[in-house]
Amino acid sequence: MNFSLNVFNYYNIFMKDLRLKVLRNERVGKHTYLMILELKEHIDIKPGHFVMIKPNDTFDPLNRRAFAIADVEYDSLYIYYDIVGKGTSIMSSLKEGDSVDTLMPLGNGLFEPSVDKLNIVLAGGIGISGVSLFCKLLKAKNLNFKVYYGARSKEHIVMLDWFEKYGIPIEIYTDDGSFGKKGFVTDALENLENANIYACGPTPMLKSVQAISKQKGFDSYISLENPMACGYGVCLGCVVKSKNGYIRTCVEGPVFKSDEVML
Ligand SMILES: Cc1cc2nc3c(=O)[nH]c(=O)nc-3n(C[C@H](O)[C@H](O)[C@H](O)COP(=O)(O)OP(=O)(O)OC[C@H]3O[C@@H](n4cnc5c(N)ncnc54)[C@H](O)[C@@H]3O)c2cc1C
Ligand code: FES
Repeated sequence: MNFSLNVFNYYNIFMKDLRLKVLRNERVGKHTYLMILELKEHIDIKPGHFVMIKPNDTFDPLNRRAFAIADVEYDSLYIYYDIVGKGTSIMSSLKEGDSVDTLMPLGNGLFEPSVDKLNIVLAGGIGISGVSLFCKLLKAKNLNFKVYYGARSKEHIVMLDWFEKYGIPIEIYTDDGSFGKKGFVTDALENLENANIYACGPTPMLKSVQAISKQKGFDSYISLENPMACGYGVCLGCVVKSKNGYIRTCVEGPVFKSDEVML
């Protein structure tokens, strides 16, 4: 196996290990919860950064779980998470006043907007929480952008209240047509020319973004959500094949230029 990683670059000097209080943890969708954690100090969080959360204080599960930082507001950090297994089930049982062990901010490959081209943001499923902070930045910088969000059906759509709160328009696609347009979110790219694409979502969606971008010559950036164990470069559990060998999603990513990685 050829690893193109810099072994001296594993340690993130800005990474903090913090015990954070749960301010809110509630169901906001069929399988989705919103967890708000209390931040007692300023942390420089940029779009694309993620946090590792230990669901409990035992050795089961052993590892922290990775989550996109969906928003940071005053002293609150927002995480939206789907329940898929043991760790996220345990997280869903946490109550206001409980606390969790976290590591953040993690990731070096981040979302960087284009100042002259149209910025197209594409989200699939829970990937919407991987692009929300980026949408907030695009809005704050008054850049030219559009947001498209695809979900399986109406009941899987989350964060609409968040987008409404920040006055960010969002166009929705559902696979079954139960809300918004019927179809895949990548259909939004059909009639587009000369745009930068920023995407977060399931692998089939990201593969489609790669293929369309290659065909149309878009500069596109995809945020990967590979399973992770450490989150800061030492376990090699998150590697992805790239043009130059294997690279770590947690350190070299999670956002990559779409033609750089092979999904
Ligand atoms: C950078 C990054 C950001 C992420 N952001 C979010 C987020 O904002 N919200 C969110 O809900 N999830 C997010 N994820 C995915 C999240 O980390 C996993 O869903 C979580 O670790 C599952 O933990 P678990 O213990 O509940 O499931 P486990 O018991 O570990 O696994 C249950 C099942 O899910 C599969 N699985 C586990 N992790 C992943 C994964 N990363 N991708 C696909 N399948 C997986 C396993 O193979 C298994 O089949 C992110 C992942 C990464 C790497
Ligand atoms: S999760 Fe350990 S190296 Fe990336």
